[in-house]
Amino acid sequence: MLINLNVNEEVRAKNIQRCREKGILLPTFKQMMDPSTVPADIKEKLSHVGLWDVDPLNLFRITWKNEPTKQGGTFGGVNYIEVPHELTGVKARILALVGKWFPTGAHKVGATYGCLAPALVSGNFDSVTQQAVWPSTGNYCRGGAYNSALLGCQSIAILPEEMSQERFAWLKTVAGEVIATPGCESNVKEIFDKCHELDAQRGNHIVIFNQFDQFGNYLWHYKVTGSAMLEILKEEGVAAENVRGYVSATGSGGTLAAGDHLKDVYPNLKIGAAEALQCPTLLRNGFGGHRIEGIGDKHVPWVHNVKNTDMVLAIDDQDCMDIYRLFNEPAGVEYLRKIGVSEADLKNLPLYGISGIGNVLGAIKMAKYYEMTEDDVVFTVLTDSSEMYTSRLKEQNEIQGPFDEYAAVRALAGCFHHQTIDGALELTYYERLRVHNLKYYTWVEQQGKTYEEINAQWYDKDYWKQIPAYADQIDALIEAFNKEVLAK
Ligand SMILES: Cc1ncc(COP(=O)(O)O)c(C=O)c1O
Repeated sequence: MLINLNVNEEVRAKNIQRCREKGILLPTFKQMMDPSTVPADIKEKLSHVGLWDVDPLNLFRITWKNEPTKQGGTFGGVNYIEVPHELTGVKARILALVGKWFPTGAHKVGATYGCLAPALVSGNFDSVTQQAVWPSTGNYCRGGAYNSALLGCQSIAILPEEMSQERFAWLKTVAGEVIATPGCESNVKEIFDKCHELDAQRGNHIVIFNQFDQFGNYLWHYKVTGSAMLEILKEEGVAAENVRGYVSATGSGGTLAAGDHLKDVYPNLKIGAAEALQCPTLLRNGFGGHRIEGIGDKHVPWVHNVKNTDMVLAIDDQDCMDIYRLFNEPAGVEYLRKIGVSEADLKNLPLYGISGIGNVLGAIKMAKYYEMTEDDVVFTVLTDSSEMYTSRLKEQNEIQGPFDEYAAVRALAGCFHHQTIDGALELTYYERLRVHNLKYYTWVEQQGKTYEEINAQWYDKDYWKQIPAYADQIDALIEAFNKEVLAK
């Protein structure tokens, strides 16, 4: 069983009792995909709740379809934008889902729910006596701590000490405990070590929701992120032959799962896994520190379906930093206005966080590599938004000097328009196998997975195909759970 749904009746009953006391209902996968099915009374109540409020009603805002407002919104269509051609410099259309309008301002809150909800409704996590542990380098631990707070349970967020001040400051307001581990973005081994240490010390008092190996993460993105993209294609009337690509930088590899969904529907689609050039693990078994927060952790995540990945796209983190400045420094925005970027597109610039910029650069590389034309579409994701990284502006000003029009010209020409296909590697069967084999050292040698399991990921034709079906089973458990919560 890739997601444990064996029911522990005793703990499940405790969780129901707790949710009843706190008036908490849980959204189903169906509701996250289609929030128009959320009951009217919940929608009405949401119209008085802020997007980031620690209010259990916000569980129903774990969807790509929130109205784009900080206060009181309900639901509309999928939040996405088209990255303007003046920026990308390629003919192909790059469409990007917008993560800013999730509670916590980042899409990973969904993946944490995908891991937590099955454990809660099956009684494999005791919300009364256990702490939920959220190890991550990015927004996953913010999302996990937030969802734990909504459910009124204790949480521990673990993340590397060099993550942005914004992340730490906010986390301290929601998580019971925040643990900073040594190093930067790519120091995931240190996070795993901390998890083992906590496990040894606290044993049954904690449950570790490790996004790198939890299939709830994969499932949430396959179902909810994937179906959001399918809806956009329908809305935009894109012909099947033009659905060409999907790019996502891999942190846990969860977001990549949306590509598996798209490829199930459009088998010719190419899936590109992006990473930082400074930490080229997929590209050349490499390692190193980098500054694209949330991705690229010197290992291949367990939940990354490598056999279905067509391309690796290594992105220079300096390009991301310079574009981040271009989009957020007044001289950058003014320059973009001068060269004809529309006011509507300028208004969207705050929607790009650093890894979102990296994703767009990956999409540009893919579009160039496959010589895509005007009608072709590449999808990607703006995982969070610029507000998460404002301290980096000050930092870059100190390192590079003030950002003026010359810097803006350089950033647009050098980082966008002259983005080349360097660092783009089309994966052959044996390149894929090389990447898959890297999993052995992290997962079998260090983290307790078995030889049989790692082989099943590669050789068992049904291994990845079985995961989407869990959503219906989990929904049935959630519905039964909610019913008992509401019963007097
Ligand atoms: C900012 C940011 N970008 C990208 C990612 C990568 O997403 P995934 O872990 O699904 O690969 C994360 C993950 O937490 C993130 O926080």
